[in-house]
Amino acid sequence: MKKISFLIGMCTLLHISGRAQNHVCHSPNGQIRLSLGLDGKGQPQYSVMFKGKAIVEPSHLGLKLKDHDKPRADFGLSYAQLAIDSAKVDESWEPIWGEVKTIRNNYKSLILTLKDNAANSSVVKIEFRVFNDGVGFRYELPDQQNLKSFILLDELSTFNLTGDHKIWWMPGDFDTNEYNYNTSLISEIEKNTKKRDGNIFTSTPIKGAFVQTPLMAKTAESVYVNIHEAALVDYPAMDLQFDTKTFEAKATLAHDASNPEESDPAKKNKAYLRTPAKSPWRTLVISDDARQILSSKMILNLNEPSKVKNPSFIKPMKYCGIWLEMHLGLSTWDMAGTQAASDAGSDGKTTKRTKHGATTANTKKYIDFASKNGLGGVLVEGWNTGWEEWFGLWKEDVFDFVTPYPDYDVVEVNRYAHSKGVNMITHHETSGSVTNYDRWMDTAYKAMNKWGSPALKSGYVGRIIPRGEYHDGFWMVSHYLRAIKKAAEKNIMVVAHEPVRPTGLHRTYPNFMAAEAARGQEFNFWSEGNPPEHETILPFTRIMGGPMDYTPGIFKIKKSSYYPGAKEQVHTTLAKQLALYITLYSPVQMVTDLPENYEAKPDAFQFIKDVAVDWDDTKILLAEPGDYIATARKAKGTNNWFLGAISDENERTLELKFDFLDKGKSYEATFYKDAPDASWDNNPEAYVIEKKTITSKTKMPVKLAKGGGVAVSILAK
Ligand code: NOJ
Ligand code: CA
Repeated sequence: MKKISFLIGMCTLLHISGRAQNHVCHSPNGQIRLSLGLDGKGQPQYSVMFKGKAIVEPSHLGLKLKDHDKPRADFGLSYAQLAIDSAKVDESWEPIWGEVKTIRNNYKSLILTLKDNAANSSVVKIEFRVFNDGVGFRYELPDQQNLKSFILLDELSTFNLTGDHKIWWMPGDFDTNEYNYNTSLISEIEKNTKKRDGNIFTSTPIKGAFVQTPLMAKTAESVYVNIHEAALVDYPAMDLQFDTKTFEAKATLAHDASNPEESDPAKKNKAYLRTPAKSPWRTLVISDDARQILSSKMILNLNEPSKVKNPSFIKPMKYCGIWLEMHLGLSTWDMAGTQAASDAGSDGKTTKRTKHGATTANTKKYIDFASKNGLGGVLVEGWNTGWEEWFGLWKEDVFDFVTPYPDYDVVEVNRYAHSKGVNMITHHETSGSVTNYDRWMDTAYKAMNKWGSPALKSGYVGRIIPRGEYHDGFWMVSHYLRAIKKAAEKNIMVVAHEPVRPTGLHRTYPNFMAAEAARGQEFNFWSEGNPPEHETILPFTRIMGGPMDYTPGIFKIKKSSYYPGAKEQVHTTLAKQLALYITLYSPVQMVTDLPENYEAKPDAFQFIKDVAVDWDDTKILLAEPGDYIATARKAKGTNNWFLGAISDENERTLELKFDFLDKGKSYEATFYKDAPDASWDNNPEAYVIEKKTITSKTKMPVKLAKGGGVAVSILAK
């Protein structure tokens, strides 16, 4: 690790008039300017400029605490400044896995230490870090005589945006992120807020102009601003409530279940903390080039270095599994085949379920397929007893996470997998009954160790037990991390479905490989699905916080291939499904379709066999949220590159330049393109494959179909 240069007193004290004090700090390249201080009433505030123009107008800072039963009206109301410290950091670090080999952490910081003017006189620090690609800030409550244990009632942070920006957003909801995105002006949020479709009951958009983070905004002058959080630990997740007239967004924390009779959300309990305590970082990634939003590593830089002492068990991988067949209704999670078909077809007619998916014999077929095609893992869902009654409200003791169905020999399956050089990914669906899962976790992870299964897919479908808690609340945020830490102790990698949205914690816990926490591919199989633009928005929103287990790679695109007349389909071309392995970053990627659908198209499947999942370098070539993304990545430890480009519902031609390749070298490139007559709706499976020798000087226009894409493997000669 390159070392830090640490300078004190870098930032200037700009202005003192009456009690108002403002300190200014510029990013290392001077383009972002932060102003921080107390206003005339002693209230902390900040503002941000980019290239000389306001991005965040003066905005509030503060926390509201509750002392036993009475709210403390101290934090965020009136302070005196005790100290102002500043620092400059420039260091580099290497992630255990990731999009690039080396990450530079370069910022200037300001730390304001404040003492509240109330009688009990507590101390709070507010730290800002100003990077070339954005700003992060957080609150710190040091250990102190006047403040030990406390309840957090509200966070007063606001983001006072400068206009009625275009935003890519989903409704505020403390229980789910599985919405399609809206694109609108800030002033139109309420008009466009609607309930999520799909037959899952945990969808409760908060009334009013609420949105979730990561929120992507674009100003009229084409400056992109992404608002999210980093290092969400011991704190609830943040949604944003907009004032649609002033465009100011206020932090809104998910509350807990403790006082249902309180109707004012600002007075409900949010977190139970003890000094020393820190909030997560509030993040603003800022650029006038959309590509730099996607290549920003600011959120990772705001997380702590890895705490996993011996990470040798952590291995990025592609995996296949007994999964799609259940989502298509071709087999069942439960052994008796009696399971409710509620998630098998939005018309209620397409359900065919007759046989159990997770049998020993079927699993061996998938293991053979994985082994033959170089995939590292096989996921099996529906292997443990309980699926007959998993789906429903607040049920106790549905799963024990150790007892297989009689037709699934868990020991034999793991033995067979190892003999073929493959690992089993164990599935733990908690069905929201998280207290039950907490009781089982230790036993279940030990069983995985005994079987030799090094990876876990967890799931949190349904309403949470403890009853009344939210997926995004304090209790659950603590749970997800408890599970990841426990798994790390047991050398287990985790992919979590339906957790709180990621905030870069995979830097600190690199066994936390990926999460769902957004609307995945599965919705295409049993609901109105995800529109073609969905995957062009995900990297600008959900994936800002960390990798997503999206499950790409569908070759049979229309459900009518299985059920004549069925309307559901993936809103994509086949070539776009290949490109998603590059444009949607994750160190674990599912090879999602049924083995026979790949075996029917071995030439297109070759791309999935070849594509890497861990990278030494990444170049975002072209990007605009909601429209298109083109990304190239260099496979770890090689000189091979893979490129993916995708379009929304529009046909478009992208000018691809290969100037990221080594100068003077020739590469063998294979282009997997939409056929000239392909389109997501009428002819989604039509593709052409072309081979060409290319160099760093090669440039070419490539046509992407409606809902289409192109994937290119570029192998060094
Ligand atoms: C929802 C998850 O996203 C999906 O991957 C899983 O198959 C089902 N829950 C059942 O656990
Ligand atoms: Ca669009």
